[in-house]
Amino acid sequence: DTSGWPLIAPLPSYGRGRELPGGRYMSFIHGDEVHDVIITGENGTIDGQGDVWWNMWRQRTLQFTRPNLIELVNSRNIIISNVVFRNSPFWNVHPVYCSNVVVRYVTILAPHDSPNTDGIDPDSSSNVCIEDSYISTGDDLVAVKSGWDQYGIAYGRRSSGITIRRVTGSSPFAGIAIGSETSGGVQNVLAEHINLYNTGVGIHIKTNIGRGGIIRNITINNVYMENARKGIKISGDVGDHPDDRFNPNALPVVKDIKIKDVWGVGVLQAGLIRGLRDSPFTGICLSNVHLRGMTEPRTPPWQCSDVLGASVQVSPWPCAQLSSTQQRGSCSDHF
Ligand SMILES: *[C@@H]1O[C@H](CO)[C@@H](O)[C@H](O)[C@H]1NC(C)=O
Ligand SMILES: *[C@@H]1O[C@H](CO)[C@@H](O)[C@H](O)[C@H]1NC(C)=O
Repeated sequence: DTSGWPLIAPLPSYGRGRELPGGRYMSFIHGDEVHDVIITGENGTIDGQGDVWWNMWRQRTLQFTRPNLIELVNSRNIIISNVVFRNSPFWNVHPVYCSNVVVRYVTILAPHDSPNTDGIDPDSSSNVCIEDSYISTGDDLVAVKSGWDQYGIAYGRRSSGITIRRVTGSSPFAGIAIGSETSGGVQNVLAEHINLYNTGVGIHIKTNIGRGGIIRNITINNVYMENARKGIKISGDVGDHPDDRFNPNALPVVKDIKIKDVWGVGVLQAGLIRGLRDSPFTGICLSNVHLRGMTEPRTPPWQCSDVLGASVQVSPWPCAQLSSTQQRGSCSDHF
C-alpha cells in the first residue's frame, strides 16, 4: 500500500512522472538544493526492497511513477562512494540539474528481471564522474539523459562533462547508454575501460523524433564485452513520448561520436546504426572495433541507414556509409 507515500512534483524537464502522468513518489533518499554532501558507508547496503514496487508495476496497480533509490535535484559538490545499493524500486541513482558529482566505489544490484532499475542516470547535469563501480541491474547500467520531448526542450538544460570509467557490469538492456531522453542535449561524454558481461546492447545511443536535442562529442574507448545481443547501437527511433503533444519536427541531432578500441566476444549482432532521414547522424567514427559472434567466423554484418562516418580496423566490416574514405577529416583527430 503506497497511499501514505509522499508525492513530489514532476521534474519540469519531463513534464510528468516518467511512468505515469502527474507527480512522483518521493525517492528513498531525496535531496533538493543541497551542496557539499557525501553519502558513504564502508560498503554498507541500502536496500530499496523494490519487489513490492516491481509487482505493482507488473500488475499495473501503480498510481504514480515509482521512487528512485537516490535522487538529488539542483544540487552540487556531491560524493557518493563505498555504498552498496540494492533493489531500487526504479532508477537507482538519479542526479538531475546537478553539477560536480562523483560516484565511485559503488556496487549497484537488482535482479535482471526487475523493471526500469537503471544504475546511474546523470540527467541535465554537468561535471559528473562515475568510476570504479560494479553495476548489475534490470535496465541500463549508466544512462546519460537530459529531459523528455517538449518539456525537456523548453527546460533546455543539457548534460555535459560526463566521465564514466572503470565500470563493470551486466544488464539485459544497455551497458553504457546515452538517452533516450536527451531533449536538453548531451555533450562531452567520455566512457572508458568498461567491461560488460551478458548485456542486451553493449553501447547504446538512443533518441527519437520529438526529442530535439543535440548529442555530440561522445567518446567511448576501451570496452570489453562478452555475450551481448548487439555490440553497438545508435538509433533515432527509440523511446516513448510523454503525451501526443510532442513536436514531430523536433528532430534530434547526433554527431561526432567516436568509438575506439572495443573488443567483443559472443556478440550476436555487431552493430546497428539507424539515423533519421531528415537528420542523418554524422561524424560517427569507429576505430579498432572487433565484435565476434558465438561461432567463428561469421557475425551478422552491420546494418546502417542515414549515417555518415568513417571506420578503421573494424570487424566485421561495417556498412558502406562508414567507409573510411568518407568524412575522413572529421574523424582523423582521434584516430
Ligand atoms: C569497498 O568496495 C570497494 C569496491 O567497490 C573495494 O575496493 C573496497 O576494498 C571495499 N572496502 C571494504 C572495506 O571492504
Ligand atoms: C569533447 O569532450 C571531451 C570530454 O570527453 C572534452 O575534453 C573536449 O574538450 C570536448 N571537445 C570539444 C570540442 O568540446
